[in-house]
Amino acid sequence: MEKKKIKLKYINKIKLIKNLNKNYYDKNHSLVTDNEYDDLKNEILKLEKKYNFLTSKDSPSNSVGYTPSKNFKKIPHKVSMLSLSNAFTEEDLANFEKKIINYLSEKNDFKITYSAEPKIDGISASLTYKNGKLEKGLSRGDGKEGEDITLNLKTIKDIPNQIFSKDFPEEIDIRGEVFIKNSDFKSLKEKFANPRNAASGSLRQKNPEDTKKIPLNFIAYTFGFEKGLSIYNQFDFLKKLKEWGFKVNPLNKLISGIHNLIKNYNEVEKQRSTLDFDIDGIVYKINEFNLQKRLGNVANAPRWAIAHKFSSNKAISEIIDIDIQIGRTGALTPVAKIKPINIGGVVVSNATLHNEDEIKRKDIRIGDTAIIERAGDVIPHILSVDKKKRSKNSQKFIFPKKCPSCGSETIKEFNKITKKNDAVRRCSSEGYTCDKISIEKLKHFVSKEAFNIDGFGKKIVESFWNLKFIKFPQDIFKLDYNKIEKLEGWGNLSVQNLKYSINQKKKISLERLIYSLGIRHIGLENAKLLAKNFISFSNFINLAKLNSYDDLLNIDGIGETQVNSIKNFFKNDENIKVLNELEKILEVKSVNKKNDNGLLNNKSFLVTGKLNGISRAEVKSLIEVNSGKTVSTVSNKLNYLIVGEKPTKRKIDHAKELKIKIIDQKEFLKMLNKTS
Ligand code: IVH
Repeated sequence: MEKKKIKLKYINKIKLIKNLNKNYYDKNHSLVTDNEYDDLKNEILKLEKKYNFLTSKDSPSNSVGYTPSKNFKKIPHKVSMLSLSNAFTEEDLANFEKKIINYLSEKNDFKITYSAEPKIDGISASLTYKNGKLEKGLSRGDGKEGEDITLNLKTIKDIPNQIFSKDFPEEIDIRGEVFIKNSDFKSLKEKFANPRNAASGSLRQKNPEDTKKIPLNFIAYTFGFEKGLSIYNQFDFLKKLKEWGFKVNPLNKLISGIHNLIKNYNEVEKQRSTLDFDIDGIVYKINEFNLQKRLGNVANAPRWAIAHKFSSNKAISEIIDIDIQIGRTGALTPVAKIKPINIGGVVVSNATLHNEDEIKRKDIRIGDTAIIERAGDVIPHILSVDKKKRSKNSQKFIFPKKCPSCGSETIKEFNKITKKNDAVRRCSSEGYTCDKISIEKLKHFVSKEAFNIDGFGKKIVESFWNLKFIKFPQDIFKLDYNKIEKLEGWGNLSVQNLKYSINQKKKISLERLIYSLGIRHIGLENAKLLAKNFISFSNFINLAKLNSYDDLLNIDGIGETQVNSIKNFFKNDENIKVLNELEKILEVKSVNKKNDNGLLNNKSFLVTGKLNGISRAEVKSLIEVNSGKTVSTVSNKLNYLIVGEKPTKRKIDHAKELKIKIIDQKEFLKMLNKTS
């Protein structure tokens, strides 16, 4: 559900920016101010960064401006630009070769030589030269028709405008890849997910002057239409390209035998992180043109070539350093800083090492060559390191015994359940004595489920912390807005907005407040239980004075671990000070004592369809006030399905199957002794 909501929010923003772009680029009409446009763009990029399941071809991360297909003239390619079929395993390659041999009616020992070319992950382009002069440049488009991006391509320094070589054909389409170097991508990584998106955005700019701003490169590898080419194999063609003044991939090789292809593939994959361009596999092309001709194409891919792709969730790179990050609860988490590498379209430069034990177990060291895995939404991690590639003077990583932030002792707690020491090492300081813990506590305090202050994200916490504007949660409510207004990037309007959002959150529920304090082991659910127990903020604060911690064990769901953690929290004077300060500033809503004797006690409800004259929210609160519960799906836990107008048939059928009572609005109100 949460994911759905995020997606919807994202799609709406994308729709909005698409419309703004359309008006701006097609109609030359701006619907919003530049600042408003930038804000929207940043919101989209932020969402994409946070949730990597969000992508859209219309995202600003895919294009610098509007993807202006309408702005570029469409021109047919004289010879179609094909795509390639993919191979992932040695078996795929063996099948590929077997099929070729069968097609050519050759014997099994027929030797095929391949041009093996690292597959640059960029944007392909076709350059038409007539009598040595660059006439036009097209994008791939749909393979049959491309967009006329001649002017933009002409800004690329690797693309010669004129070729004087005598053996250059009278007419030829030179094809290759436009890409951006990884080193140039560094300064653009806030804007784009990967170098490919950056190259694509740059190439599709309406104004070639904008294309020029992002340094693009071109590597040539094939041709389309030709008149007067007297070359008979791919590798000679690549050599010729170089002679004519084009850049070609320095890692191209001539190879025969599947096992040699695999050997080369493994070597190149190891080298990948040291290259200054992104590759996502290796293209194998049968070297002889006459064999290529005989084999021809299937659908839109040639029979004579295949792309051997690298895994989309694993890659090899080098560990440059090991950083120790300190979390809100003091946990020391080692993070490997790796040479940036593109894993399935995302440039990864950090990988978690989990904890001290993990480093020991896998003997992970600075300088190691490692396999990094990035699967789904989880943080990338190190799978293993290659001990053979290790230099002689490599040293075991020594995990710090003192907190790198505050110098306090670090400890490994004894886990009573597993009867073992925790794998996680923690900073032993409590409260706000450790700077790194404090920053994380503040980030937690303003986070979504806590105070959820609009426009007050992690970056602002860090910046205000560094400026010494905030150290404790109460400082957030005492900010000097005049000082903020003078900072770069802030203006009167944004300061007013921030002030408004902060003031709005001065009214808060007790459960959110308890959760915001970031007490270890007190998540949202436990905070709710505690809030229900304490009813008011003053009761909660008084806990320390009354020393009545053991009573907390009577709360269903709260155990010894939580109680010890609460005790630790209240033992710290700084924490008590924070509570007292917050009490002065905030208006904490007390919990309405729940009536356990209500008419709907122990009964659960679900509404499907629209009810008459009563909103969903109202029904929910009516049920809860009367000690009932609302649930969101039909299951065995449901007691009553309330059916309104236009209900979901599936829910009714499911309820019937489970023999759940189905009632209408009238019957529901009757249960509450209400008639209308
Ligand atoms: S040859 C008929 N050679 O891979 C052969 N393509 O999916 C088609 N690519 O669109 C292209 N490096 O963008 C060829 N050395 C290379 C390549 C290469 C990268 C890209 C190209 C093409 C895609 C095929």
